[in-house]
Amino acid sequence: MNTETKLKIGELELGQGLILAPMAGITDLSFRRITKSFDVDLVTSEMVSSEGLVRNTVRTKMLLQSHAEEKPLAIQLFGSDPKVVAEAARIVADEGADIIDLNMGCPVPKVVRQGAGAALLRDAETVAMLVDAVRQAVSIPVTVKTRSGWSQSKINVSEVARVAEDAGADAITIHPRTAKQGFSGSADWPLIAKVKQAVNIPVIGNGDVTSPEDVGKMRKLTQCDGVMIGRGAMGNPWIFKQARQLTKGQPLSSPTPQERLDVVRRHLELYEESLHGRQSLSGVRSRLMWYSKKLRGSARLRAYLSDCHHLEDMIKICEDFFSALEE
Ligand SMILES: Cc1cc2nc3c(=O)[nH]c(=O)nc-3n(C[C@H](O)[C@H](O)[C@H](O)COP(=O)(O)O)c2cc1C
Repeated sequence: MNTETKLKIGELELGQGLILAPMAGITDLSFRRITKSFDVDLVTSEMVSSEGLVRNTVRTKMLLQSHAEEKPLAIQLFGSDPKVVAEAARIVADEGADIIDLNMGCPVPKVVRQGAGAALLRDAETVAMLVDAVRQAVSIPVTVKTRSGWSQSKINVSEVARVAEDAGADAITIHPRTAKQGFSGSADWPLIAKVKQAVNIPVIGNGDVTSPEDVGKMRKLTQCDGVMIGRGAMGNPWIFKQARQLTKGQPLSSPTPQERLDVVRRHLELYEESLHGRQSLSGVRSRLMWYSKKLRGSARLRAYLSDCHHLEDMIKICEDFFSALEE
């Protein structure tokens, strides 16, 4: 099956359109650089507060850290005031981002209470104003990432997608779960196909792509122009390279335990570098845990790591874990 497609957002050519999803606390600079080495076409930052950027908050500005090797880079903004989000977009574009993605799907109460994230699914007028304001503020592509609707009885993503397109969005990503659903149930892929029928801009499918095979399945079922992967890439950056191999009809290559360990070590180095040596133990622990998921003995590894409070010991435990897999 040849499912090779080409994704173009604005003037930006993005190959097959394999995209790393924005994930707060996860898609930091270190993880984006790791996935980039496995052939992802576009990486996306964690969501960044527009208010925080405009107020020049140090913690928020830290999220804009970037590196030439991860390009092209989409920075995701959240906010609900068109003036503020447009100002934040200008800052982000000046910092060298290649795409501005607008978050219209985050269901976290802290975000929704501000009228941002998934709250925008109930406010088409603000969707139009936000996209229009950002479109006017920057010359780089502007994309929107959203969900199915607010709740099961209010599935309106096709309407929201049309509003965003009319206001100047260059592409739209759909995670077809409602805001109320959070992460429960499963992603409603046929809804992505409906959105694809409703708009002319590229549609990127997202949700529950956990294997390289899923990439082709989602494309076939929905005719989407790109596929965005979140949780399926955590501790598993190989998924992008493997999806590409499948598309080309090549055999799937799986990483050896030694290759996994090399990537873990590199990830920790980049993590430390991005935090200027101030990485937290819990941050290191969770990163180590991602890479052991679904592997033999991972439950035991997680238990050891939870009890471990020294960086060197954590790394030694991990080395032993991957050596045992080699045997
Ligand atoms: C820990 C975590 C953090 C997330 N943070 C964001 C975010 O900052 N912005 C956003 O648009 N979506 C965020 N998401 C949602 C993902 O981008 C994605 O839409 C969702 O996980 C479904 O895709 P998946 O099944 O491939 O993970 C987050 C998801 C997770 C699990």
